[in-house]
Amino acid sequence: MASVRVTQLSKRFGPFHALCPSDLDIEDGEFVVIVGPSGCGKSTLLRLIAGLEEPSGGQVFIDSRDVTDVAPAQRGLAMVFQSYALYPHLTVEENIAFPLKVQRLGKAEVRSRVEAATEALQLTALLKRRPAALSGGQRQRVSIARAIVREPRVLLLDEPLSNLDAELRVRMRHEFARLHGRLGATMIYVTHDQLEAMTLANRIVVMSEGRIEQVGAPLELYVSPATLAVARAIGSPGMNLIPAVLQVVDEQGVVVRLPGGERLRADVRAPSDAVGEAVTVGLRPEHLVADDAGPLGGEVELFERLGPLSFAHLGARGGIDTVVAQLPGDRVITLGEALRFGVPPAQVHVFDAQGIALPRLSP
Ligand SMILES: Nc1ncnc2c1ncn2[C@@H]1O[C@H](COP(=O)(O)OP(=O)(O)OP(=O)(O)O)[C@@H](O)[C@H]1O
Ligand SMILES: [Mg+2]
Repeated sequence: MASVRVTQLSKRFGPFHALCPSDLDIEDGEFVVIVGPSGCGKSTLLRLIAGLEEPSGGQVFIDSRDVTDVAPAQRGLAMVFQSYALYPHLTVEENIAFPLKVQRLGKAEVRSRVEAATEALQLTALLKRRPAALSGGQRQRVSIARAIVREPRVLLLDEPLSNLDAELRVRMRHEFARLHGRLGATMIYVTHDQLEAMTLANRIVVMSEGRIEQVGAPLELYVSPATLAVARAIGSPGMNLIPAVLQVVDEQGVVVRLPGGERLRADVRAPSDAVGEAVTVGLRPEHLVADDAGPLGGEVELFERLGPLSFAHLGARGGIDTVVAQLPGDRVITLGEALRFGVPPAQVHVFDAQGIALPRLSP
């Protein structure tokens, strides 16, 4: 177990900033998940921490020790990649024991560590098989076992489940949660998967265009995204984002005008000279409340029934993109049906022209 800290860490590839100078503090034993759109620098950050990439600037600390110039193998961490590179000619057992053989540990020690890792990942029945005779999920479990057998102080995982089917992903997600509970290791986990991020993380790091946008507990980011990039990155289906104009600023907050001329109140604070400025309104699908006189409406273009709840997609119109509304699972809907919604002012997010969230009125 170890804490990880990066200060002003950056990476340039030629003139291109893959990672702008960034600070991040990860506590001992934390499970931190990094999310953000493709190409935003997630793998780069992970590889810099691992020492697989040389930083253009800044430092990496593990347990307050500056490891910026320390070789990857000496940093006390292990990394699991999206593609599990197992040795095809070795059995599961030999694959898992391999890093320990390299370390020249005693036989008994090797056996007990391999046993612990295989039990943790439920691989005991597969020890004598070769990788070719395993399913994708089993192979990925072997590569994770191989990573933890060295008892790393920090485990780095770069989209470890992205090659697996949906059902396996869910099973493996639960295994990661259990594994973290059991090992207590510090974990830094990159994923595109909303559910993995929301359920596994103690804290989520949202990245965008080589920058850390916001760091916080999953619900904190979900409820109070600080920027448009965070609003886009967290939540599935995502937050509805609608261009609007700030029309009124008063003691109760603001009123925005939507592209069709409808007005919507939000209890956020804005400077009074911001009236007339372009903003973006953010509305979570579950905050749309059926209201015949509400400002949002449209015809149902697509309807997704998930069982306990449903999502109605209202067709784009008048400058507003498709709006997604969450409905009860038993709500009867016909395609083309016209629906109207309102949103309580406390649930309306407003982002300024720079994509920064306007602060809530103090309660
Ligand atoms: N060796 C390299 N040379 C040049 N550019 C690179 C190199 N490695 C990464 N990049 C660029 O740096 C940016 C960040 O890449 P990175 O792999 O960190 O993204 P990512 O967030 O992990 O994306 P994904 O979700 O697709 O894996 C990308 O634009 C990528 O093209
Ligand atoms: Mg990546």
